[in-house]
Amino acid sequence: MDTMKSARKNETGEVGSDLSEQIKAATKDNHVRAENTQLMLSYQKGEITLVQYKVLLCSLYEIYRALEDEMDRNASHPAVAPIYFPQELSRVESLESDLEHFFGSEWRKRVIVPAATQRYGQRLRQIGRENPELLVAHAYTRYLGDLSGGQVLGKITQKSLGLSSKEGLSFFYFPSVSSPNRFKQLYRSRMNSIELTEKEKAAVLEEAVQAFELNIQVFDDLQKMLSVATETADQHKDRSPAAVLPSS
Ligand code: HEM
Repeated sequence: MDTMKSARKNETGEVGSDLSEQIKAATKDNHVRAENTQLMLSYQKGEITLVQYKVLLCSLYEIYRALEDEMDRNASHPAVAPIYFPQELSRVESLESDLEHFFGSEWRKRVIVPAATQRYGQRLRQIGRENPELLVAHAYTRYLGDLSGGQVLGKITQKSLGLSSKEGLSFFYFPSVSSPNRFKQLYRSRMNSIELTEKEKAAVLEEAVQAFELNIQVFDDLQKMLSVATETADQHKDRSPAAVLPSS
């Protein structure tokens, strides 16, 4: 896809030269595709199941571990430092506590992820090593998503799973961010302060499109993994999909 072309305009007309505006415009279609994956549609219908949520948490853990390892390692890189907010944004610890809540103290042995999640993690580690200026594309895609639609998804998860407390839902909560909207504004202004050549900027936009695609592939792979597990469970009527999955 020609990201530069699609970055020029959005529905309100002209897109300025700010990275935050361009990245939003460049990934607009991919956002729609991500919202329309089966997993995200289940979410929007309030039909998320415990087994779907558990496998999603496992994949998010692998993804954020790679993202945050690379952000930490490149914290002083000029294209990372302005958007480095570990106190406010880091998700690895919240994911660890959610995984422990659902899988128990031996949760580390029970984390399973599909191939798409492994590919996403590998991509993050590769750009962390070779092109840290592209990390902003991935940090934007995940963290600004978590602070936007993600906030609604947290409430839906609680309701769909009938959870009475916030236990198992730490992933969705950002205790150090008092106003997600204000924080997003700060984040966008920090993104816009990163000095990038035109070539680097184009590569960041392209990487953001890839970041959305990697997320879509993860959601699709998780859905496939679950339908195989459900079919197997149907053949063994005494077993639930969760019991068929190797680790849940
Ligand atoms: C922004 C909804 C899935 C990434 C938003 C916004 C909404 C939203 C309402 C705010 C739009 C605005 O302020 O203009 C949803 C819903 C989803 C979903 C309902 C699925 C059920 C995703 C996924 C990703 C994602 C899967 C990426 C992995 C983003 C990003 C933004 C955003 C990066 C910030 C856009 C910007 O302001 O630049 N989303 N989203 N979203 N979402 Fe999503």
